Order: sequence, then C-alpha cells, then structure tokens
Amino acid sequence: MSILLTGITTSGTPHLGNYIGAMKPSLESLDNSNQSFLFLADYHSLIKQQEPQLTHQSSLEIASAWLACGLDPKKTCFYRQSKITQILELNWILSNVTSKGLLNRAHAYKAAQDLNKENGSNDLDKGITAGLFNYPVLMAADILIFNSNEVPVGSDQKQHIEMTRDIAARFNHIYGDTFNLPEAKISEDLPLLLGTDGKKMSKSYENFIELFSTEKKLQQAINKIQTDSLEPGESKSTKNSILYNYFQAFLNKDEIKEIEKKYSEGIGWGELKKELFDVINKEISSSRDRYFDLISDPSKVEDILQEGEKKAFDIAENKMKEIREKIGIKSLNGK
Ligand code: TRP
Repeated sequence: MSILLTGITTSGTPHLGNYIGAMKPSLESLDNSNQSFLFLADYHSLIKQQEPQLTHQSSLEIASAWLACGLDPKKTCFYRQSKITQILELNWILSNVTSKGLLNRAHAYKAAQDLNKENGSNDLDKGITAGLFNYPVLMAADILIFNSNEVPVGSDQKQHIEMTRDIAARFNHIYGDTFNLPEAKISEDLPLLLGTDGKKMSKSYENFIELFSTEKKLQQAINKIQTDSLEPGESKSTKNSILYNYFQAFLNKDEIKEIEKKYSEGIGWGELKKELFDVINKEISSSRDRYFDLISDPSKVEDILQEGEKKAFDIAENKMKEIREKIGIKSLNGK
C-alpha cells in the first residue's frame, strides 16, 4: 500500500517554478496513491526566514494555491506541520538515534559552511543555527510519524530522504520494527524551470515569476525573460533560449514542434513572449480565479486545514502512543 507524503516550506509566494517542479507532479501522484498527506512545513520555514508576517501570509498563499490547483482535501490529508505537535515530540526522540556525523554530511549544512569558507571566515559555523543543522531530523519526523513510504520531492531533497531511511532503520534496530523505510519519488524527466535570467528560478535570486498575479503582471514578468538581440525575421536557435525552456515546461511534444518551427522561421521575441503568455495563462487562469477567491476568504482555508488537522492529529497520536511505549515512556503501573 502506498502512503504518500510531501511538505512545502512556507517561506514565500508560490512561483511558476514551484508549480512546474512540485505542485503539478505531486497533484498527479496524490491522485494515484492509497493514502496521502500534504502539509505546510511552517516550522521548517523558520530555518529559512524569521519574518512572522511572511510565515503567516505564505501559509495562506501556499494553502490557497494548492487548493486552487486541484488538491482535494477529502482525499488528501492537508494540514499544517505546527498543528501536529507529535511531530516535534518525535523530532526529539529521533535526534537521539541520529548520529551527529550523519548531520555533518547534510548538503544544506555543508553548503552553509562552504559559503563561510569562501568568505574567508575562520569560524566555519558562523551564522549557522542549530535549526539548520537539525533540519533533516525534523524532516524525518514529518515523514515517519505517518509511516509514509513514498515521498515525492525535488532532487535537492533526495539526501534528506536517505537520511530519513538511516534514522528509521536505526530506530527499528534499537526498539524493534516501527517505521517503514520511505523512498524518494523524483520525477527525473521534468524540465527544471529557469528564472527570467536563466539561473534556477528562486525567490532569493529575484528572478521568479509569481504563479498567480494579474494577467498584466504575468505578461510584464514574461517580457523580462532574457533573450539575445536577434531581430524578427532572423532564424533563432532553441538551444540556450530561456523562453524555450518555458515552452518545454508547459507544452506537449507536438506543440513544442510547432514552436521549434517558429524559432527557425524567425519569429520575433516579442511575438513569442505573447505566445508564451497565452500558453501559461490558458493553463492557470481558472485556478487563478479560485486562488483569489480563497485568498480573500481566509476563514474558508482555515476551516479546510483544521478539518485535515483533526484527521492527521489522530493518526499521529496513535503512532506516537506506539513509539512512546516502545522507548519506555509509559505509565508506571502499566495501564
Ligand atoms: N524540505 C522540503 C523542501 O524544502 C520541505 C519538507 C519539509 C518536506 N518536510 C518534508 C518534503 C517532508 C517532503 C517530506 O522542499
């Protein structure tokens, strides 16, 4: 039986890169699983940023975006990490079966150290919080509390799932069989959506295109996508074309052929950008209307989440009872 789970950090406004790289593929797999969990990793977001207003607003925006794009909260348990307090309880328990050396090897931690090295700091841990260091343990708790065995994530998260397996196996070894060993589900064939400057689309590079804004803003953002200076009428190459990367992300193979033809026939960049706008707009316009309805009705989103949290809490508490019992945290008279 597949128990699928994935989380989204609430540290920003959803952009087109999130939609192509995470939302679309996850929504498809959620539909095909026996049991599924999708949650807002709001406690994880503290690792990336510490702006209360951003954490709060981002939770509403991300929840609304998933619902608008078709997440069915009746089929998928949809909740905030922070409301399932057992996750933090398990986080502590797991940190005691996690070797520090394992965490030393985490990519995110090593990248932060490398940055300090590059900047010539003699303290490699400068500015690195214990939260960042322990990030993989919290992620393991997210996954293991629901005994999930399939975790759809981007390839950058693969190591975290491997660590979760290590941690689960260690716990099982010490206390007896308790957790499934989860597997990362990575869609390798997905094109990575680039930012308007050709680097990876990311909030921190300010090269992202918001998933839901007005049509005018969407067109303006698309107009910012960098091109070369070839004139209309001059034949263009799809190789290294950032615009082409967008068409690839949104169109099927036949439609892409049409676009390739237009490139070689020398379509102007301006015209191509209008076409791209039409393609993206067509795909997201009905979700956009739903999104703005939800954003303007936070109580509705709150109710949907609370509904999911009731279910998730009960499942987590059941598992937690088993775990507490196994580690010897139980009533003194055995009742
Ligand atoms: N770390 C993930 C990311 O940045 C988000 C996340 C938190 C997650 N907990 C998770 C993903 C558990 C999958 C399973 O994308």
